[in-house]
Amino acid sequence: MFIGEKKIARPFRWGIVGGGRTSGVGYKHRLGAMRDNTSFELKAAAFDLDFARCVDFGKNLNMDEERLYPDYKTMFAEEAKREDGIEAVDIATPNFQHFEVCKAALEAGLHVICEKPLFFKVEEGEEIKALAEKMGKIVCVTYGFSGFDLLSQMRSMIQNGDIGEVTMVDLRYAHGFACDPTGDKQAEGQKWRVDPAKSGPSFVLGDLSTHTFYMSELVCPQLKLKQLLCDRQSFIKSRAPLEDNAYVLMRYENGAVGRMWASAVNAGDMSSQHIRIVGTKASLEWNDMHPDELYYEVQGKPRQTLVRAMDYLNPEALEYERLGALHYTGLIDSWSNLYTRFAIAMDAKNRGDEETLNSLVYPDLEHGIDGIRWVLKCVESADKGGVWVDFK
Ligand code: NAI
Repeated sequence: MFIGEKKIARPFRWGIVGGGRTSGVGYKHRLGAMRDNTSFELKAAAFDLDFARCVDFGKNLNMDEERLYPDYKTMFAEEAKREDGIEAVDIATPNFQHFEVCKAALEAGLHVICEKPLFFKVEEGEEIKALAEKMGKIVCVTYGFSGFDLLSQMRSMIQNGDIGEVTMVDLRYAHGFACDPTGDKQAEGQKWRVDPAKSGPSFVLGDLSTHTFYMSELVCPQLKLKQLLCDRQSFIKSRAPLEDNAYVLMRYENGAVGRMWASAVNAGDMSSQHIRIVGTKASLEWNDMHPDELYYEVQGKPRQTLVRAMDYLNPEALEYERLGALHYTGLIDSWSNLYTRFAIAMDAKNRGDEETLNSLVYPDLEHGIDGIRWVLKCVESADKGGVWVDFK
């Protein structure tokens, strides 16, 4: 189990490019990086194309205003002058800027964490690989769904031969959130996604299926993709040549086959990502709507549901497990919501703001006392032979 203690000597001084107030993904980066206060500390940012909004946002995050920058070039140059300058940077801008920012970051001597799809061309990837090697730096990609504990379980079970030889790989990242074409013109985070100059040569293949394709590489590292066949469509015609739906067939070197369905026009479906690996003896299946369950199906036997954090899992699935069994993924969001309300309550009390205190819903002293009373009254009732007792 992992309870957030440090795994490295001290946190990296870290900066962000993009990921500002209006961005879809920025909060996830900050939460992921800084949840434990032991891996990364956010010191500098060029959050936004709009500098005034970047400054206002950074100040709202209690950042040092001096270290909020109008653009990444200024940030890299100014931070390099400081003894306590950033050592790593996050790139959370629309796709077309990943390459230039990544290159500049490496040239500035920074480790990089970059959004997907990484770049537009393999040659750009090779150039960055050579530069990273030359500079002695790491480049990481935020395939953010791939850290779930049960994907590590899936990987170790496949490697241990628990399903036999892998024969079929069934992948799907298909939702319906781009069914309405008006979003293409109106929603900031959608406009660039359907513009080839900004999104790259694809829409859903890059935006969605890169995640799920990486998941297949993660759980089946032994499989080498040999050939693929793709059929892609723009059901919203104005998106052409960018697809909003695609089917891909795959052939692997060992004879295994696979398929991927990527879609943003799968109307009404909320379950998004599925991965099923079929072997000669058994299959494993996981989906991100129920991330705490892994389904293990041995031919001829009833389906088994393996649950996150249980002792019967392999050590790989427990190494980064943070919550303990019976405390499900998402519980920390609940704790965070409560702690935010606790702080608001304390602040309102300090300021004598009764209106806020009266409207804020959180477990306060009265609810704590109700809990004591609940226990005492239950005990009293039971000890009297199971009789009705007044609660108050
Ligand atoms: P968005 O359009 O919602 O936000 C982009 C942000 O970057 C905005 O705050 C914008 O002002 C800022 N920005 C743009 N150019 C900039 C520049 N040159 N310097 C500084 N800031 C700049 O886009 P969204 O959804 O946040 O996506 C950003 C990237 O993250 C994309 O590459 C996307 O594919 C990826 N993404 C990844 C996800 C994941 O699960 N890993 C989820 C969602 C998006």
